[in-house]
Amino acid sequence: MAAPVNRRWIFLIICASCFFTAHAFIEGLYCGVENCYDVLGVTRDSERSEISKSYRQLAKKWHPDRHKKQEDKEKASEMFQKIATAYEILKDDEQRSDYDYMLDNPDEYYAHYYYYYRRQMAPKVDVRIVIAVAITVISVIQYLGGLSNYNSALNYLCKDQKYRMRAMDIARTEGLLNNNKKKNRKGKEEAKEEEEAMIRKIIEENMDIRGGYRKPKVTDVLWVQLVLLPYWLYKYVVWWLRWVYKFNIKGEEYGVEEKFHIIRKFLGLGQAQWESVTEEDKAEYMDHELWIKENFTVWKEEKEEEMKRKLAENNRYKMYRRYMKKGGAGQMTFGPE
Ligand SMILES: *[C@@H]1O[C@H](CO)[C@@H](O)[C@H](O)[C@H]1NC(C)=O
Repeated sequence: MAAPVNRRWIFLIICASCFFTAHAFIEGLYCGVENCYDVLGVTRDSERSEISKSYRQLAKKWHPDRHKKQEDKEKASEMFQKIATAYEILKDDEQRSDYDYMLDNPDEYYAHYYYYYRRQMAPKVDVRIVIAVAITVISVIQYLGGLSNYNSALNYLCKDQKYRMRAMDIARTEGLLNNNKKKNRKGKEEAKEEEEAMIRKIIEENMDIRGGYRKPKVTDVLWVQLVLLPYWLYKYVVWWLRWVYKFNIKGEEYGVEEKFHIIRKFLGLGQAQWESVTEEDKAEYMDHELWIKENFTVWKEEKEEEMKRKLAENNRYKMYRRYMKKGGAGQMTFGPE
């Protein structure tokens, strides 16, 4: 199973080099630098039966078992291999037409690589392997992307004076700074690096980075998600049945969790986004009883109005600034503006 995948890599590497080679016959493709028809002693007009006949004769002639001397044997086995390859290509109508195309259009060498390897690979690579590789690649990208987001958030916090100070305070109260006192001239760089690492560690331990920038977990990755899918599905169905039974059938009051859930849905936030909503905002949602649709609609309209007003104010302020920049009330203009 692994071999075809390896060959795909080889293909990619070869492909990179196709742009530097231009031969009618390409080494490694079809019959290499020889013409497949010549190898079998046939012509392009030959019928398939003719080709088969010629192949059988040549194969018999060059069969390694028919040769006794060591060097004859080697030559024969080489020839035998060549004949077999040529026949493999010419007996298959599709491969033969690809090959003819190459003979007629020697300049399109990259196309030849493509056709050749597509035919060689396609039936051999298991679709399941392709899917598995794709999922793995996506998983790796997800995890590394998450890690990079998290690191950039952490870097940002480490540069922020406010968080640095707080981290230093924590370091002081925990007595982590004492070690750094005995730094001498030589170790200055080192001590600085150590301090940076310490600040970073403290911030990492004490900050709760949430939302899109939180530390990626292995469970976020597509592979794990797919494996866990039946479990999540089951949990969701149970949750949904409980909801319907409790609130729709028995008509119970919503608890805090249910209220938040409804509000989150109204706001159109994902779980990760919801986690980064501040406690004040959540309290505001609760005060306005936003789990009731009418209240949410009213509240949303108000918010939008407010946003519009702020934007307008901001624009008016900008216009005023522009006006003042041009000279304010004392400006002189010539003619109608
Ligand atoms: C939310 O709506 C209900 C019923 O529509 C109403 O009784 C209640 O006063 C509203 N709450 C707020 C905070 O506006």
